[in-house]
Order: sequence, then C-alpha cells, then structure tokens
Amino acid sequence: MSNEEEQLDLLERLREQVKLGGGQKRIDAQHGRGKLTARERLHLLLDEDSFEEFDQLVLLSGTEFAGDNIRSEAVVTGWGKIEGRPVYVFSQDFTVVGGSLSEPMAQKIIKVMDLAMKNGAPVIGLNDGGGARIQEGVASLAGYGDIFLGNVLASGVIPQISVIMGPAAGGAVYSPALTDFIFMTKGTSQMYLTGPDVIKSVTGEDVTHEELGGAMAHATRSGVCHFAIEGEEECLQEVRRLVTFLPLNNAEDPPLMETGDDPDRRDEDLLRIVPADPSKSYDMREVIYRVMDAGDFMEVQEHFAQNMIVGFARMAGRTVGIVGNQPLYLAGVLDIDSSRKAARFVRFCDAFNIPIVTFVDVPGFLPGTAQEYGGIIIHGAKLVYAYAEATVPKVTIIVRKAYGGAYDAMGSKHLRADVNYAWPTAEIAVMGADPAVNIIHRAELAKGKNVEKRRQQLVKEYKEQFANPYIAASHGYIDDVIDPRNTRVRVIRALEMLRNKADTTPPKKHGNIPL
Ligand code: HXC
Repeated sequence: MSNEEEQLDLLERLREQVKLGGGQKRIDAQHGRGKLTARERLHLLLDEDSFEEFDQLVLLSGTEFAGDNIRSEAVVTGWGKIEGRPVYVFSQDFTVVGGSLSEPMAQKIIKVMDLAMKNGAPVIGLNDGGGARIQEGVASLAGYGDIFLGNVLASGVIPQISVIMGPAAGGAVYSPALTDFIFMTKGTSQMYLTGPDVIKSVTGEDVTHEELGGAMAHATRSGVCHFAIEGEEECLQEVRRLVTFLPLNNAEDPPLMETGDDPDRRDEDLLRIVPADPSKSYDMREVIYRVMDAGDFMEVQEHFAQNMIVGFARMAGRTVGIVGNQPLYLAGVLDIDSSRKAARFVRFCDAFNIPIVTFVDVPGFLPGTAQEYGGIIIHGAKLVYAYAEATVPKVTIIVRKAYGGAYDAMGSKHLRADVNYAWPTAEIAVMGADPAVNIIHRAELAKGKNVEKRRQQLVKEYKEQFANPYIAASHGYIDDVIDPRNTRVRVIRALEMLRNKADTTPPKKHGNIPL
C-alpha cells in the first residue's frame, strides 16, 4: 500500500468506526425499541444523497485520538436538502452515552445553528437523549444555555423545528420549547421537566413516562406538541411536508408550488355546509378543504383546543396560514387554550411573511370561574395582540356567528385586517338573540303575561335587526357580503391584491405581549 493509500485507508476506517456510534450492540438495542439510529433518521429526512456532514471527527468528551479505535460525540450534524431546498440538521445519537449533552456536542449543534442563521435556512433538530451529561457538570449546562441563546436569537429569523424521537428530560425540553414546531413520535418519545420518580417522591403522584410526557399527553393536554405521529418514518415525512410550506427565512416569501387547482373554481357544496338552524354545528374543516388548493391542509395542534383550527394550506400555489373557529367543539367558543393556540400561530405566520386567512364562527368567549381564574383576560388578549401586530396580508371571512369581543379578536377590520368578507349567513352582534333580549327587555319580560310568546317575538325582531352582516357592511367593517360558492376566488383575488402589501408598526425595541 502506498503512503497515500494508507492515509485514505485510515480515513475510511475512522469514518466506518464513527458511523457505528455506540457500537452494534447498542444499535441493535435501539432498533429493538422500535427506534432508528441518528443517521438512519437523517437519511429518511433529507433528499437522497444530499447530506453533508460536519464534525464527524469530534471525539467523545473525555476520550483521545487512538488510531482507528475512536469514539465520536453523541450527535450527527450537517446540512442537506428537502425538496431541493437547504436545511441544517442535528440528530442526537442515543447509542452514545444515551445521547446526553456534552460541551463538544453542544458546540457541534451551535455550529450548524450559526451556519443556518448566516445562510438563512431552517434548523431541524432530532432529539433522542438523556439530557445534560451528568459527568460533565456545569460544562454541559453551559452547552444547553448556549443552545437556548441560539434558539432565541434565531426565533423569527429562520424556522426552527424540533422532532422528539426518544427521551427529552429536564432542561433538555427547553430548546425544543423555544423552537417553532415540535413533532413527537407516538409511544417512543417523552418530554418532561421532572420524571415519574421525582414526581412520586415530591408529590406522591403515580404516573407513567407515557402518561406524563408522551406524544398524546402533550398533543391533547399541554399543547406542547404540534404534531403527534405514529412511526418514525411517517414522522420524518411530515417534517418534510411542513418544510414545503415554509420560507427558508424571514426575508423570503413562502414557496410557490403548482397545485393544479383552478383559482377560479366555484364550489357548490359551500352553500350546504352551514345548517339553517344557528344552534346546529358543522365541521369548519369542510369549508377549509373546499376553499384551499386541492384540499391540502396541514393542521397544526390538531388534538389541542379543538374549538380552534390552525394550519397551513396553499391558495393559487402560495402558502397561507389558516385560522378558524370550529363549531364542532364547544360551539367554537374562544377560551384560554384556543386563544393561545391561535395567537402563537398568527405570530409565526407574521414573522415568516405568510398571509393569514381567518374563518369566523364564534359565539364569544367562554364564561366561567375556571376561565376567569385561569386568566382568560390575559390569554384572550394574546389573540387580539397577535392579530393587531401582524402586518402580513390578512383576509377574514365571517361564515356565521361573530359575537362580542370575539368578533373583534378574530381578525376583524379593527385589528387591521385588509379584506373582510361575510357570508349571507353571518350574524354580527354584541351577543346572541336570546341573551340580548333577556337583558334589554328584562323589566318587560319580568312582569308581563304571556311572557314566552312576547319573548319569542322580541328574539325574532332582534335577529332581523341585528343578526345579519348588513349593519357591519353598512359601516364598511365588512368589505362585501359574498356568495359562499365564490369564497375561493374572492380570497385568492384579495391575496393577489395584497401581494405587495407594506405596513409598519411604530418603532420600538419590542412590544410587551401579555404573556
Ligand atoms: C450521562 C447518561 C445520561 C446522562 C443516560 N445516560 N442519561 N449518561 N448523563 N444524562 C447513559 C446511561 O448511563 C446508559 O449508559 C446509557 O446512557 C443509556 O441509558 P439507560 O438508562 O440505560 O437507558 P434507558 O433505560 O432507555 O433510559 C433512558 C433515560 C435514562 C430515561 C434517558 O437514562 C435517564 O433517566 N437518564 C437521566 C435523565 C436525566 O435526569 N438527565 C438530566 C436531566 S437535567 P450505559 O453505559 O450504562 O449504557 C438536565 C439539565 C439541563 O438535563 C439543564 C439545562 C438548563
């Protein structure tokens, strides 16, 4: 073997050794748990043959270069492509010291985050590790702190996506929490600040890892998880799908994707979705599917605060953010969780130049002590703040009810929405007919005879007078009352009109959103 051949041979053996991570036995154990390795995951996430790795030869903390018998750190980092567009990635390797975070590992992660920021492309982190490397002490905590800072500085500049594919315990959960979207695999991932053993010793509660921090716990109860997906392969495919909706950074427009759906398509079914009886519910998704391109809608936080729908779709090939009340759950009422959910989504869209299309059917804010003591005043204000602050194109369609403060909050003209339409079925008023009549005519209804008949007559009069879109239209708060069948074409034209929209907010360091 020539000298050059020997050198190349050593390099090849080093690479082979590094690729084994914590060794074949641990790889087998990882597979045995129904999990893939860090490298297998990147292979599924990225376009074929697009991965360029960095820092493959950063050695495991505490080890030294020893010929071809080296061990590398517990994360694989680099960049690759999704549908031909660049993304930066890191993938924790559970087979190496349980994927726990050491200082050199943190430096590898920060290197890709810095490159992503300089080059304006998303960062996707695949998380599978035991948190701070205990043997490293404060150096590991410093590593986490540096990553948190990187997350915060990148927030609103490049999309950041976290995928939880194993344990994420302790402070390790805060990096994902600082990013824009969290995916979790069902049954194989858990996130929590303190695990079941600590909980048992402190509060006496018995809870399993899965009940405490599994994908569905966070998808349904805490709202921490945006996408809970069965199976790693499916999960990584969904990450790819999300990326196709997003711009690479905050200076870019969202990508244009030809969907083949006619922008002038009318939809006859839209006339039949809203029931004649205003107390009956229907699925707002039926409206969304028919208005968007090719019925393609990627719902975000599908299982959390289901009285609010948020997600991404395309109109005439361009990404839009959809916000909609869902009459199927709690009559589409605004409460703490749904306000938080929609507010965060609206802010993401605004940060990344994604126009917002809002479908309104809201009976108001949810009354009750649980809501008041839980701070609905502050949380509802988040939604008002988010809509008012957003300078992206905003188009709102009132499908049915828009009552009270919820009328204002849900993308109204008053919060600088650009184009506001209403269907003829819209009811825009301070409150619904029954409570309104009970309040305005309390004295009369309290003493009169044949009260019920009179009450019904007053309700009918109130509905004729107030429960329609025409008073709002007469003030110019509604730009037009539209034929529901034309909703798609009218929204697409509005978005076309708003393509070059430029709007500003008074100069400030930053606002003080009611957190
Ligand atoms: C060092 C760790 C480790 C850690 C796991 N390992 N976590 N080594 N530091 N944090 C090692 C184990 O010793 C083991 O090594 C190997 O990884 C695999 O772990 P197992 O326990 O065998 O695996 P499993 O049974 O699947 O359990 C996985 C686990 C558990 C749930 C993650 O290991 C665990 O609870 N780890 C500790 C979690 C934790 O409390 N981390 C600190 C959180 S505080 P061997 O060689 O035996 O195979 C924190 C602070 C951050 O993160 C603060 C930032 C502000």
